[in-house]
Amino acid sequence: MAESAHLPGLAIQNSDVLDSPRHSALVRVTHWIHTLSFFALVVSGIGILLAHPRFYWGETGAVGTPSLFDLPLPFLVTTSTYIGPSSWGRSLHFLSAWICVLNGLLYAISGLLSQHFRKNLLPARIDLSWSPISRIVSNHLRMKRPSEEESLAYNVLQRLTYLNVVFLLFPSMIWTGLAMSPSITSVFPILVTVLGGQQSARTIHFFIAAALVLFLIVHIAMVCLAGFKNHMRAMITGRGAGGKESS
Ligand code: HEM
Repeated sequence: MAESAHLPGLAIQNSDVLDSPRHSALVRVTHWIHTLSFFALVVSGIGILLAHPRFYWGETGAVGTPSLFDLPLPFLVTTSTYIGPSSWGRSLHFLSAWICVLNGLLYAISGLLSQHFRKNLLPARIDLSWSPISRIVSNHLRMKRPSEEESLAYNVLQRLTYLNVVFLLFPSMIWTGLAMSPSITSVFPILVTVLGGQQSARTIHFFIAAALVLFLIVHIAMVCLAGFKNHMRAMITGRGAGGKESS
């Protein structure tokens, strides 16, 4: 009796969950604009890097001065592939950086106003303990696909990673990027002085970029593990995303 009274309610709840989009239109649109601008940033960033694959600490650094470390890449400064100040590399980098910043602001402000971050990304206190985290890590290591029910919400590791990417890595990336711009630092010199100089900003910028590329590789691997087709469909159309692939 208790069951029959309870089940219809459950059915309504479940159909509500299934009928509402897995990701809001704004999250989906900003996610894909962001992905495109990030690819453009990486490609143009590699181009810029090849002009001088050396890193320094402090205010200055150049060929002939001691470096912090050198990447095992050729200098392409003097060849026809030179990616100089007026080249496509820098233009594409700045264009995609501003798209990334404006799109990121739209995502962050709307996520705060709609409480998306609090409801969908902030982990519950109970999940921030060793046992749920170790269970998720062990499932990932055993390549165990999440169940359909688990796929309906982000797990604690995803939440922590996404929050870290959105509120730490991207803002730091933008800050260190702005700290390399003489026109910006002439107005706000503190942006670069607290980092120890322009070359320090460049070195930190490189490490953050590498961390974001690593995130992207793991992110795509996790989407594949969870069910590429369903999760991509949900991130494109807003519908779907269960543990099992539907053909
Ligand atoms: C730099 C590039 C990327 C960044 C920074 C990024 C970041 C994120 C973030 C923060 C979320 C959570 C969004 C939210 O609910 O607010 C997310 C979800 C998602 N992303 Fe990405 N992403 C990137 C690229 C990609 C790519 C290339 C793919 C596909 C190949 C992808 C597929 C997905 C999917 C399917 C989800 C939903 C995951 C789920 O439902 O469990 N992302 N991404």
